[in-house]
Amino acid sequence: MRTILQAENLEKVYRVGRVDVPALRGVSLDVHEGEFLAIMGPSGCGKSTMLHLLGGLLTPTSGRIVIDDEDLTAASDARRTDIRRRKIGFVFQRFNLFPTLTAEGNLRLAERIHSANGADDPERRRDVLRLLKLEDKMHHKPLELSGGEQQRVALARAVVTRPALILADEPTGNLDSENSAIVLNMFQELNYRFNQTIIMITHNPEAAAMCRRIIQMRDGRIVEPTASIQV
Ligand SMILES: Nc1ncnc2c1ncn2[C@@H]1O[C@H](COP(=O)(O)OP(=O)(O)O)[C@@H](O)[C@H]1O
Ligand SMILES: [Mg+2]
Repeated sequence: MRTILQAENLEKVYRVGRVDVPALRGVSLDVHEGEFLAIMGPSGCGKSTMLHLLGGLLTPTSGRIVIDDEDLTAASDARRTDIRRRKIGFVFQRFNLFPTLTAEGNLRLAERIHSANGADDPERRRDVLRLLKLEDKMHHKPLELSGGEQQRVALARAVVTRPALILADEPTGNLDSENSAIVLNMFQELNYRFNQTIIMITHNPEAAAMCRRIIQMRDGRIVEPTASIQV
């Protein structure tokens, strides 16, 4: 199986005033193409820091990250941004939708930003909106949507260009069980249909149970052996 992501001995120290806050203390991780992986661990153990590093939103203090044969850590800022736009869909806990654009307009904007040629693909937009049970909401603006629907639009936006790697930071953290189920089903479907690789931080044991591999973190380190269950 092809390795899509390789992290070697990642360390991250945040500087706050004159104080160093070590958030990651040497994390190594290999992820195969098509894996659906969960990261769990107590608050403050470094999960978000790790995901932001893997997605090129932060740079590590030391260590190396290779995504799809491109060295993220050796890349210039501009190059890193380019890799991130082409290959990675980031799902944050807060959704930051464009308030003046409809659900579909928000997806169209993501296509302009994230695909090399600014691809306009109404079929794919509809497919994603269908997966997230938003077909009848595509012409609504964020304020005309419930919180759960807004989060689903934010997810649709992150995946509409079918990035090879989807990074999600507690994507069901603010959702009720019905919305959580829709979101998790979508991840499973994308993973199955398009072989998209998904790394998801979650506190939800049911969400983690969907993943073929669960990584446990404590205090800036991976603690569990990361044995994967072959399916
Ligand atoms: N921007 C930041 N500046 C300083 N310290 C930070 C910053 N972000 C996170 N930290 C600290 O780094 C550690 C790991 O945080 P984080 O990666 O957010 O953990 P988790 O997502 O597992 O809750 C914590 O001690 C947190 O307070
Ligand atoms: Mg976090």
